[in-house]
Amino acid sequence: MAQIIDGRGLADKLQARLAEKTAKLKEETGRVPGLAVLVVGNDPASQIYVRNKERSALAVGFRSKVDRLPEATGQEELLALIETYNQNPDWHGILVQLPLPAHIDEEAVLAAINPDKDVDGFHPMNMGRLWSGHPVMVPSTPAGIMEMFHEYNVELEGKRAVVIGRSNIVGKPMAQLLLAKNATVTLTHSRTHHLAEIAKKADILIVAIGRGHFVSREFVKEGAVVIDVGMNRDENGRLIGDVKFDEVAEIASLITPVPKGVGPMTITMLMEQTYQAFKRSLKK
Ligand code: GUN
Repeated sequence: MAQIIDGRGLADKLQARLAEKTAKLKEETGRVPGLAVLVVGNDPASQIYVRNKERSALAVGFRSKVDRLPEATGQEELLALIETYNQNPDWHGILVQLPLPAHIDEEAVLAAINPDKDVDGFHPMNMGRLWSGHPVMVPSTPAGIMEMFHEYNVELEGKRAVVIGRSNIVGKPMAQLLLAKNATVTLTHSRTHHLAEIAKKADILIVAIGRGHFVSREFVKEGAVVIDVGMNRDENGRLIGDVKFDEVAEIASLITPVPKGVGPMTITMLMEQTYQAFKRSLKK
């Protein structure tokens, strides 16, 4: 039976540490990190994520502002608002919640954020820095997974890591972070042939495909470390991961639950990046 990774517990520990660091910097500088979150429209999942981000920001002692914009907000209006935060030195992190409504060009919006304030790490400049081996801002979900590996002493060097899912938010940056730790990385996706067979070779299996209970025991090698990034609803509205937890936990050595696994760590890393952006701004 696998050991269960306590993402909630690790997140609480790291956030408590971050709150202390923030209080100390406030004493020294009279200032605190500021995180501005922009959300367009009424996507219910986005509303929950944004509320949790605001709650965490306030809990660690940051300034927090959420702009909830109507679905009909025009692209130019959104870009203009981003520019006001780019220019304002009181805001160190700017985050535009995704997905955006279809009439807004996501690429243009992400590219409009000052890369120094891009706490999601989605700006092409920050993606390029990561892929060239000089990361500054790193997407929070894969960064949180790396923290879990560190906390649970998961050795990555030389290991075979398989990532299922190639999104810009999770799969691609995850592959790069694993590579930087000298894992041998295979980046797979929904069109990969013989996916179960490939996944079954993994020492470390990271699943971010966005399909509830997609990964069964046939995908998992005995003793593998299994990380489940999925956040899906089953037919009863219950939150489920991309992995069939009960059967995979029988053969994995270490596994994340859903909820209380990857999710809380994502928010924690977002706060950490905001704190780091603030610290870099003090040096300028
Ligand atoms: N939508 C789903 N995940 C994320 C995330 O990490 N950041 C933003 N901005 N939007 C998201």
